[in-house]
Amino acid sequence: MSGADPLRVVLAGAGNMGRAWCAAIEADPDVELVGIADLDPPTARAAAESTGRDVAVGADAVELAAATGARAVVNATVPRAHHPVTTAALLAGLDVLGEKPVAETVAQALSLAAAARVTGRLFMVSQSRRWNPQLFALRAMAAELGAPGSLTTEFFRDPHFGGFREEMADPLLVDMAIHAFDAARFLLGAEPVSAYCEAHNPPWSWYAGDASATAVFAMGGGARYTYTGSWCSRGAQTSWNGEWRLSAERGSARWDGDHDPVSDAGPGTPSAPPGSGIAGALRAFTDAVRSGTVPMGEVHENVPSLAMVEAAVRSARTGRRVLIDDVLAEARARALDDETHPAVREELARWADVRRELAAGVDGSRWLSPAAPR
Ligand SMILES: NC(=O)c1ccc[n+]([C@@H]2O[C@H](COP(=O)([O-])OP(=O)(O)OC[C@H]3O[C@@H](n4cnc5c(N)ncnc54)[C@H](O)[C@@H]3O)[C@@H](O)[C@H]2O)c1
Repeated sequence: MSGADPLRVVLAGAGNMGRAWCAAIEADPDVELVGIADLDPPTARAAAESTGRDVAVGADAVELAAATGARAVVNATVPRAHHPVTTAALLAGLDVLGEKPVAETVAQALSLAAAARVTGRLFMVSQSRRWNPQLFALRAMAAELGAPGSLTTEFFRDPHFGGFREEMADPLLVDMAIHAFDAARFLLGAEPVSAYCEAHNPPWSWYAGDASATAVFAMGGGARYTYTGSWCSRGAQTSWNGEWRLSAERGSARWDGDHDPVSDAGPGTPSAPPGSGIAGALRAFTDAVRSGTVPMGEVHENVPSLAMVEAAVRSARTGRRVLIDDVLAEARARALDDETHPAVREELARWADVRRELAAGVDGSRWLSPAAPR
């Protein structure tokens, strides 16, 4: 691929989020949608028709990529399909941009990080709410305020989704809170150390699992991050990003999630994301594929956000404070047990210190050379 050629991609999963990806890809002149894969053929066909172009459809993203000469896969399938679909794509020499969560479990996420290392391909996770200019502005303000003390997010809404979210265990923590946990890491520039969480389901809740939760995380450097929220909270709704407050050495900053943040100190020097939401993630992915730089959201960097979710859920179940290092170590042991690909297993076997491996990440220059299928 030359710098000027559009990146040819196949979209895997054409459901609610897949259709949003379809529109984002179609709107980006640097990306060309050449195939749409979905296990449900009418869903794939409907998404293809929405483009008004002749886009190939099928059930298997890797087969479709081979048939169309695609270089990358955008994985917007359901969470349980993230690991198999992304693994197959990486092993076929394709770069992958995947929807959050990186995988259903931290163990599967580690397997994917190891597969990215082994194949030398880029696997980036799109956490759409990170790609927000207001969040970038808040981060610049945070830098002006000195050492962080406490960061809080309040998230209170009452959506009626129907479908899987109303049936699953821990819908708020697993499906939604990961956005805020991920943004907290970004704002503080710190990784989680431990989690304590209480989750419950208010008597009027229309969810089967716990729709309300409060989690406290100790973060590297000593700050505390507190998330409190509910998905069955009537009245006084917060924004979808939640309401944020940072209390730091030289003052405080606040963000209502919809408007520009405000701070006791100056604005600092904010950088702007390359675009908002999934459009920003897509642009960052394309730039990284072309330049060999490591983008925000590269799988190694994203895993701690899922580890925060798993630690919070475990804490809510046991009533105990959970160490992130324990979550990572147990996930690695499980990943080793479950891994079926010999080279990926060998890579995981070397990961005696998971946190260090995640921090070390990958060498982006490796994905500049087109990979032969493995
Ligand atoms: N970033 C956000 O704000 C945001 C919002 C909603 C959903 N999501 C994420 O997007 C992903 C998809 O969610 P959704 O709401 O679109 O779900 P959905 O159920 O509407 O769509 C998923 C689609 O994937 C297809 N699929 C499943 N397994 C597949 C496979 N192996 N190969 C090809 N297609 C397969 C299904 O047939 C379905 O059409 C999830 O990971 C979800 O967490 C993110």
